[in-house]
Amino acid sequence: MTIAHLDHHGDVAVITLDNPPVNALSHAHRTSIVNHLKAAEADPAVRAIVLIGAGDAFCGGAEIREFNTPAALAEPITRQVAETAEGLGKPVIAAIHKVAMGGGLELALGCHYRVASPGASIALPEVKLGILPGAGGTQRLPRAVGAKAALDMIVSGEPMTSQAIAPLGLFEQIIEGDLLEGAVAFARQIADRGMPLRRLREEPVRGENLSDLIASTREQVARQWRGYPAPARCVDAVEAAIKLPFDEGIRFERKTFLELVETAESRALRHAFFAERAASKVPRLDPSVRGHRLDTVAVIGAGTMGSGIAIALANAGLPVVLTDSDAASLARGRAHIERAWTTAVERGRLDPAGQARRLALLTTTTELAAIASADLVIEAVYEDMAVKKAVFERIEAHVRADTILATNTSSLDVDAIAAASSNPARILGLHFFSPANVMRLLEIVRGRATSDDALATGLALARRLRKVGVVCGVCDGFIGNRMLEEYLRQAYLLVEEGATPRAVDEALEAWGFAMGPFRMMDMAGQDIGWAIRKRLSVEHPEKPYAQWPDRLCEAGRFGQKTGAGVYRYEPGSRDALPDPEADRLIAASVRAQGIAQRVVGAAEIVERCVLALANEGARILDEGIAARASDIDVVYVTGYGFPRYRGGPMWHADAMGLDSVVERLQSYATTRMGQTLSPAPLLVQRAAAGHRFNT
Ligand code: 3HC
Ligand code: NAI
Repeated sequence: MTIAHLDHHGDVAVITLDNPPVNALSHAHRTSIVNHLKAAEADPAVRAIVLIGAGDAFCGGAEIREFNTPAALAEPITRQVAETAEGLGKPVIAAIHKVAMGGGLELALGCHYRVASPGASIALPEVKLGILPGAGGTQRLPRAVGAKAALDMIVSGEPMTSQAIAPLGLFEQIIEGDLLEGAVAFARQIADRGMPLRRLREEPVRGENLSDLIASTREQVARQWRGYPAPARCVDAVEAAIKLPFDEGIRFERKTFLELVETAESRALRHAFFAERAASKVPRLDPSVRGHRLDTVAVIGAGTMGSGIAIALANAGLPVVLTDSDAASLARGRAHIERAWTTAVERGRLDPAGQARRLALLTTTTELAAIASADLVIEAVYEDMAVKKAVFERIEAHVRADTILATNTSSLDVDAIAAASSNPARILGLHFFSPANVMRLLEIVRGRATSDDALATGLALARRLRKVGVVCGVCDGFIGNRMLEEYLRQAYLLVEEGATPRAVDEALEAWGFAMGPFRMMDMAGQDIGWAIRKRLSVEHPEKPYAQWPDRLCEAGRFGQKTGAGVYRYEPGSRDALPDPEADRLIAASVRAQGIAQRVVGAAEIVERCVLALANEGARILDEGIAARASDIDVVYVTGYGFPRYRGGPMWHADAMGLDSVVERLQSYATTRMGQTLSPAPLLVQRAAAGHRFNT
C-alpha cells in the first residue's frame, strides 16, 4: 500500500502525498498524513511543514470508490485531516502542482499558507459527482477567495488555473521553478519571520451584497440544474458560510454531504464518472500498443460532418487537410469552419491568436493527392456504400501503406467497406456526432479485421480531441443509433396510440432528456429516419413502425431544414411551434389505419421509451457489440442527451431492478404493439439470476 511519507529538508518537514495515480485520500492515506503531521509537530527540530504531492497531482480528492462504504466514514475523515493541519502550532504550507481537487483542495485550505506551480488545475468538482465539498471547502473557500468566486467554483465544479485564482487570495506565491525547493524556502521564510499562522476558519467571508448573490445563484441553479439535487445544496452551504459561525457551517456541510452521498443521483453520477474512464480500457487490445503518431489528419468530404471534424482536429492542434470533390461544397465547408472560429472569437471563447493558429493548421483542397502525407484519413462523404468504396479505393492510391483509414459512416457495414480494401486491418469506423466539434462522444468501430494499431489510433485520437471514445462492434447503427431506433419506435407508436407529440417530448424532457424525440428528429432531419425506416422495413419486416411519420415526410416535412416537421418553425428560428397541419396529417394516418386511440399518460411514455433503450442495450451487450454495460451508458449520456444524473439506460434498469424491468416490459405483451417490447434474452437471464447489467 502506498501512503504519505515524511522527509526532512533541514528544519522543514516535507510530507509527500503518495497514492497513485492522483493521490486520492483513501483511509490509509488520510491516516498516514495525520500521523506525519503530528510527528512533525512533536519534533523540536522541525520549524515548518510542507505538504506536497508525488507524481502527477497534489491530490485529486477523496477516494471516490470508498463512498458508501465504511472506509469513507472511518476516522480521520478528510475534514479532520484538514483540521489537523490547521490546528498545528507550526506553519503548514501546501505546495500544489498539476491538480488540487475536491478533498485535495480542502486539505490545502486547512493549511496556513499555499503556494503553487503555474498551470495547476484547482477545483471543487464534487457537484459533478452529485455531492458537495464535505471537508470544509464550502466554509473555507469563501473565506479564502471571497463568496462570489467560491460560489462559482463550488456550484459549477469547474477548474481554475493556479495563476487565475492566485490574485483572489488562494496562493501566497506562484513558484516558477522547482516546486519543492521553492516551497521549502517559502516555509523557512515564514518560520524565520515568525509570520502568524493563517487559519481560514478565523477569517470572515468576503464580499458585498451577499444575500442578492445567494438569491440570484439559487434562481440560476433552479433553471439550469433541474433534476440535480447537489447544486442547490451547494448554494445552501455557501449561504451557511456567510450566515453561520464556522463550526455551525461545518456541521451543516457535513450533514448535507452525508445526505447527498446517499442519493440515487450521486450514485448515478459517480457511475458516469467511472464509466467514462472504463471505456478507454478495451478488451482484447494490448495496452502497450499506442497507435500511430498523428502529425497530419486528412478529412474527405467537407459537408456537415467533415467540416465539424476538421474544426475539432484543428482545435486540438492537429494539422488538417480537408478535401472535397466538389469545389462549391469545399468552399461552403471552409466558410462554415471560418465562421465557427470567428463566432468563438466574438463570444470571447477564443483569442485572435488562437484563431490564427487554427487557420494555419487548415488546408482545404479539391486535390486528393494532398492527403499523401496523412497519418490518418477520415472519410465523411455521402452515406452510400458504392460511393464510399470508390472513395476508399482512391484514398488508398494516394496514402502510405501504413496510414490508418476511418469511415464516419453512421449506418453502413464497416466490414463491407474494409473488404473492398487491400489492407482491411488498417480500417476502422470513427463515428462522430453532430456537431462534431461540440459533441463529446466518438463511437470507435472495430471491424472484424481492424488491427490493434488502428484501434489504438482511434482511442488516442478521442483522447487528443478530449472526446469520450467508446469502442463498439459492427452492427446496424452501432450502439447509439441502433438503440435510438427502438426508442423512436416507441415514441412514434405512442402518438399513434393517442399521445400528442408535444406530450411525448414534454414527458421525456421532464424526465431529464435534453430534448424530446420529436424536437430532436426535427432538428436532425425527419428524412434521415424515413430513409432508415424504408431500409429496415424490408430487412426486418417483423418490427412494426408507426406510419404517420412517413406521411409527414411524404408531405415534405423534414423538420427544421424545411421549416416544418412534427412542429413548424419560423424562418431562422429553432423554436418548435405547434402546427395544426401536422396534427391533421397524424390524425388522418391514424384514422386510415383504424386505430382506436386512448389516453396515454406521461408515466407510460417514459417507461416505454426508456426501457426500450435498455432492452436493446441488452441485445447489444449479448452480441458483444459493446464490451460492457457502462459503455452503453456512456454512449447515451454523452451522445444522446440522456440525463447524466440517471446514469444511462443500463444503470437506470439496474437501479429499477432487472426483474421489475422484465415485469414492466411484459405488462405490454397483450397490447397492440406489445411484441416491440418483448424482453431481450440477456435481460430475462440476468433478472432471473438476480444480476445487474453493470457489474
Ligand atoms: N478517487 C478515486 N479514483 C480517482 C479519483 C478519485 N478522487 N480521481 C481520479 N481517479 C482515478 C480515475 O478513476 C482513473 O483511474 P483508472 O486509471 O483506473 O481509470 C485515474 O485516477 C486517472 O484519472 P483520469 O483518467 O481522470 O486522469 P486525468 O489525468 O485525465 O485527470 C483528474 C485527473 C483531474 C484528477 C480527474 O481524474 C478527476 O477529475 N478526478 C476526480 C476529481 C474529483 O471529483 N474529486 C473530488 C472527489 S470527492 C471529494 O473529494 C469529497 C470531499 O469533498 C470530501
Ligand atoms: P453532407 O452531405 O453534408 O456532406 C458530404 C460531403 O461529401 C459533400 O460536401 C460532398 O460534396 C462530399 N463528397 C461526396 N462524394 C465525394 C467524393 N467522392 N469525394 C470527396 N467528397 C465527396 O453529409 P454529412 O451529413 O456530412 O455526412 C457525411 C457522412 O457522415 C455520412 O456517412 C453520414 O452518414 C455520416 N454522419 C452524419 C451525421 C449527421 O448528423 N449528418 C452524424 C454522423 C455521421
